[in-house]
Amino acid sequence: MADDPIRLELQLRDGTPVVVRPLQPSDRELVAEAYRQLSPEARYQRFWSHTGEMIGAGMIDRLVRQDPASPVSWVVLDRTRPFPGLGGGSWWLESSASGLVEMSAVVLDSEQGRGIGTLLLAVLWLTALQAGAREMVGYVLPDNHQASRWLRDCGASGTWDGYKSCFRWDLRDLDALPATPAAADLAGWLAELSPVLMVD
Ligand SMILES: CC(C)(COP(=O)(O)OP(=O)(O)OC[C@H]1O[C@@H](n2cnc3c(N)ncnc32)[C@H](O)[C@@H]1OP(=O)(O)O)[C@@H](O)C(=O)NCCC(=O)NCCS
Repeated sequence: MADDPIRLELQLRDGTPVVVRPLQPSDRELVAEAYRQLSPEARYQRFWSHTGEMIGAGMIDRLVRQDPASPVSWVVLDRTRPFPGLGGGSWWLESSASGLVEMSAVVLDSEQGRGIGTLLLAVLWLTALQAGAREMVGYVLPDNHQASRWLRDCGASGTWDGYKSCFRWDLRDLDALPATPAAADLAGWLAELSPVLMVD
């Protein structure tokens, strides 16, 4: 995994060819433009701050500067489009003692509901597992019903901490995935991508 940049050539369920790869330092403009294209609601739901159309340089740094041997920020691209970005997702270590990572993802508003978020979730799941994580959590604002439903449908168990909803998975327990279309999609991607992303 450390030698060549990872580049997954995949197809969305509707047959659209996409490239999934880690963000890299040359992606600063891609990230800034994707941020600009998000609706204010999607921006706030992902980044939890009202910054207008401009993403801060520090946030871009966090997303694009990463260890090529263990990338945590990923992007889904449609290379046939003038602007190829469709969505992105990341995970961060919350507690090394408990093996807990936090994940977050965002998909351009016009591209939501096509399975891009679930594909990103599978990539985050496997790369976190490969890096030694045992549990993954996603935090969602209380009025973000769409993301809450998606995370629950993808098998996360939800709790409320008085401020935000917390959706948690045991990354080693695929039997806990429910019988929903989103979880079936997720299981399909996990099966397809684990030989590529889970390496010794
Ligand atoms: C939350 C978010 C990332 C989900 O991304 P997405 O690409 O829309 O997710 P998917 O398309 O994989 O799944 C969403 C739903 O579409 C369905 N779906 C997936 N592929 C589909 C397809 N080809 N046709 C129709 N429906 C489809 C899924 O079953 C799922 O249904 P559910 O919500 O009832 O469970 C996206 O809505 C988003 O960016 N929201 C704003 C940011 C945000 O809230 N981030 C916090 C997440 S931690």
